[in-house]
Amino acid sequence: MANVTVIGAQWGDEGKGKIVDWLAARADVVVRFQGGHNAGHTLVVGDTTYKLSLLPSGIVTGTLSLVGNGVVLDPWALRDEMERLKAQGVSITAENFGIADNCPLILPLHRDLDGLREAAAGKGKIGTTGRGIGPAYEDKVGRRAIRVCDLAHLDTLEPQLDRLCAHHDALRAGFGEPPVDREKLIAELKEIAPFVLEFAQPVWKRLRDVKRDGAKILFEGAQGVLLDVDHGTYPFVTSSNTVSGTVASGSGLGPNSAGFVLGIVKAYTTRVGSGPFPTELEDDVGQRLGERGHEFGTVTARKRRCGWFDAVLVRQSCAISGVTGIALTKLDVLDGFETIRICTGYRLRGEEIDYLPSHAADQAEVEPVYEEIEGWQGTTAGARSWADLPAQAIKYIRRIEELIDCPVASVSTSPERDDTILVRDPFAD
Ligand code: GDP
Ligand code: IMO
Ligand code: MG
Repeated sequence: MANVTVIGAQWGDEGKGKIVDWLAARADVVVRFQGGHNAGHTLVVGDTTYKLSLLPSGIVTGTLSLVGNGVVLDPWALRDEMERLKAQGVSITAENFGIADNCPLILPLHRDLDGLREAAAGKGKIGTTGRGIGPAYEDKVGRRAIRVCDLAHLDTLEPQLDRLCAHHDALRAGFGEPPVDREKLIAELKEIAPFVLEFAQPVWKRLRDVKRDGAKILFEGAQGVLLDVDHGTYPFVTSSNTVSGTVASGSGLGPNSAGFVLGIVKAYTTRVGSGPFPTELEDDVGQRLGERGHEFGTVTARKRRCGWFDAVLVRQSCAISGVTGIALTKLDVLDGFETIRICTGYRLRGEEIDYLPSHAADQAEVEPVYEEIEGWQGTTAGARSWADLPAQAIKYIRRIEELIDCPVASVSTSPERDDTILVRDPFAD
């Protein structure tokens, strides 16, 4: 089957957007299946930089782009993003873009709650993107959500609003906030409804039809496996399942459609927000990685925490997500380092272990066990073929493959779309 599923194998920001955009030219459809506008995907094509959060990264190449039911959708944020992209010359029409009509909506009250909780948590905060993602997913599983299809039935929304507001008013009262302004909310929904409904459709059915026609489908994951609500560094995670298995429930196409699972892996490690990070470097080296890698969040402009490559985490992510091959990104950021360290295992209270334990206290306590390899003096920046890479850089890649027990399918050497070395075409598998 010629489908490809792209997922982040670390804590997000691995360069998924660049890789999806690069692969999109060979796909017939690109589908987002989880997350929301907490994602920030930067694509560089020639002189133009595109920043996407909710729109699938296939939109830039004009590939049919669909938002699956597993996504939580903030319609106002979507409209702003679309306007921004259209101003950059990207064509977005009902022909090349669609939204699942069973997608839950992120409402202003979700953003409010996200902010109130984070402010109240003080030092214990998650460090969310403040987009209302968690509260929106809570209302989905709590069976209180307003969904895209409800926008076509606003006249009969009262009983749903009763349920939703009863819950939120109680929470808001606990924070000393006034109840939800229902009139305002209905007016806002009425205003945005025609914009959303133009793109709304049963995405599962659209996918079934294109699949029958032999379409190549590219699933675009957001965040990364270590932010998965089950498998990540809980509670410092996002509120969706970010693993490859979510493709099925988040798009409605069944578990045999994932195809080649391409894990996107940064050649070092970064994380935004709070939570354990065994290889974090709070010294000059971490500073240098951040500066060379321009490690500032696309969504919140927060500085990303940086550290050495952690093979334990990536090996775990690859196993959990059934990764077929990885796309190694940002190799060029390591150019010029005299020595490079790779974390090969952990020490927990004197004992060596080869995985990240589930308990938050253990995760915070594990100490990395490093091996050191010689860096390279030449440059990998902009390399487009294996032959352009210094021998030591190849040695680094080969060592990573060995340690994570997964082959490299491509290597990315700059933000630019075409600065990518293809080792194994995921669509050809
Ligand atoms: P995503 O969330 O996984 O899509 O990743 P982001 O877009 O948030 O962060 C990745 C950043 O690295 C973006 O600014 C990309 O333009 C940039 N990038 C992607 N691949 C490479 C690469 O191989 N080298 C360098 N130097 N930058 C890259
Ligand atoms: P992309 O798709 C990196 C992090 C937040 C926070 C935690 C919970 O660009 O890789 P949330 O707002 O989701 O409730 O925040 O998850 N986070 C990301 N970190 N990349 C992302 O997306 C992220 N999306 C959420 O920083 O730690
Ligand atoms: Mg990002």
